[in-house]
Amino acid sequence: ARPFIVAIDGPAGAGKSSVSKLLARRMGFALVDTGAIYRCVALMARREGIAFDDDARLGELLGRVHIHFQVVGEENRVFLGGEDVSSDIRTPENSMAASQVSSRPVVRSGLLQLQRRLALEAGKGAILEGRDIGTVVFPDADVKFFLEANPEVRARRRYEELFQKGVESSLEEVLADQLKRDRDDAARAVAPLKAADDAIRMDSSVIPLSEVVHKLEAEILRRM
Ligand code: C5P
Repeated sequence: ARPFIVAIDGPAGAGKSSVSKLLARRMGFALVDTGAIYRCVALMARREGIAFDDDARLGELLGRVHIHFQVVGEENRVFLGGEDVSSDIRTPENSMAASQVSSRPVVRSGLLQLQRRLALEAGKGAILEGRDIGTVVFPDADVKFFLEANPEVRARRRYEELFQKGVESSLEEVLADQLKRDRDDAARAVAPLKAADDAIRMDSSVIPLSEVVHKLEAEILRRM
């Protein structure tokens, strides 16, 4: 049987990464951070001087994306071709670049296989977090969640996450970047940020993240 597939979608800073990490640990599931995959593609494009709308060169680059995730201590670290790029992919410049390359259909379709493979290779189950998991990557996921939170809460969370990762930024900058990325992500023609019709929606501005984790866990156990 295939692994139990959990889709967690939502805008930047809604708590997806913290919730997914805790949930993956509690359930013994693999965690696939799909935003990190788009961020790796953006980092490669930037390093190679490829324009974010150069579909031909982006398409060629996709064949060379070798990513793996590894839990080191409390962290889910991201390796690109063996190099630990966990911090480099989270800078404000790279976040913006990720949002831009991710709007290219050639990039989205090119990464579908990789996302599905990473999940299907998992043993018992996989948690995929992103923007279009429940709508495009796994429309038949066993359970789908859509996490939301108000913009100020989301900006503060992202700011603290960046701070802990050693990335310098300001709260204002994070909020402005986030609002722009959400607008772009929701407006793009292909696989926009949107809750699947059958997703369970949760607003984490009013519920503590630890409680969100418990609610999600209960729902997963109910369906397993
Ligand atoms: O989740 P994270 O903030 O790391 O994602 C970075 C960017 O990657 C997002 O702003 C979005 O443009 C893109 N993304 C996407 N589809 C996903 C995950 C991320 O388009 N499934």
